[in-house]
Amino acid sequence: MTIQSPGLFIAFEGGDGAGKSTQAARLAEALESRGLKVLRTREPGGTPIGEKLRSLVLDHGHGHIDAHTEALIFAASRAAHAGQVIRPALDRGDIVLTDRYIDSSVAYQGAGRDLGTEAVRTLNEWATDGLQPDLTVLLDVDPADGRRRRTAGDAAEDRLESEADEFHALIREAFLQLAAARPEAYLVLPAHLAVAELAAQILARVDALLASSGKGAA
Ligand code: TYD
Repeated sequence: MTIQSPGLFIAFEGGDGAGKSTQAARLAEALESRGLKVLRTREPGGTPIGEKLRSLVLDHGHGHIDAHTEALIFAASRAAHAGQVIRPALDRGDIVLTDRYIDSSVAYQGAGRDLGTEAVRTLNEWATDGLQPDLTVLLDVDPADGRRRRTAGDAAEDRLESEADEFHALIREAFLQLAAARPEAYLVLPAHLAVAELAAQILARVDALLASSGKGAA
């Protein structure tokens, strides 16, 4: 379990176009500049099998994928990621930053696809052997803003991104409910704040966590 490992596990969550990758990169830079060892990773993906599963579930052109199959593919990718990448890094004492984790499945498959948030959580707790983040940074994005941000330039939308705004509204609500249920484990920030402002607030919270837990020491 995370509690017993010397590392620190931080997940970035939020709707598509929230700016999670930018903030994960900023936090990694800030921590690395102090000599801390940081592993940045992402879901779906993070392992060779996970990258294959990623393209199976996100690319258009595999025909219809039913909701249960979709949830199981994300969970399979996560099982490999948690067991082969995240847990070993935490055991070495690294700080692990992941772009998406279990909450994404709870929100997208549990709420968005209507499979039920508890069922999807149970599946994923089993898949990861109960590995939970020490902190989840939730970048809360309005669905219309998110779509504008992710389609800026020529970026094409993947299979889930191209769902209607109503689907993304359900997901936003589900993320906010997860954070409200365990406020001590979440930092919720409005995604429309300036990049530097978000980065400063995230670093301040992580610093407080490092100080209180004594984890992630250089
Ligand atoms: P992401 O990697 O954040 O997209 P991008 O690389 O385009 O920034 O996520 C890909 C999509 O997969 C995104 O729409 C959210 C979705 N997703 C789920 O539906 N369930 C999950 O468990 C995960 C991890 C992602």
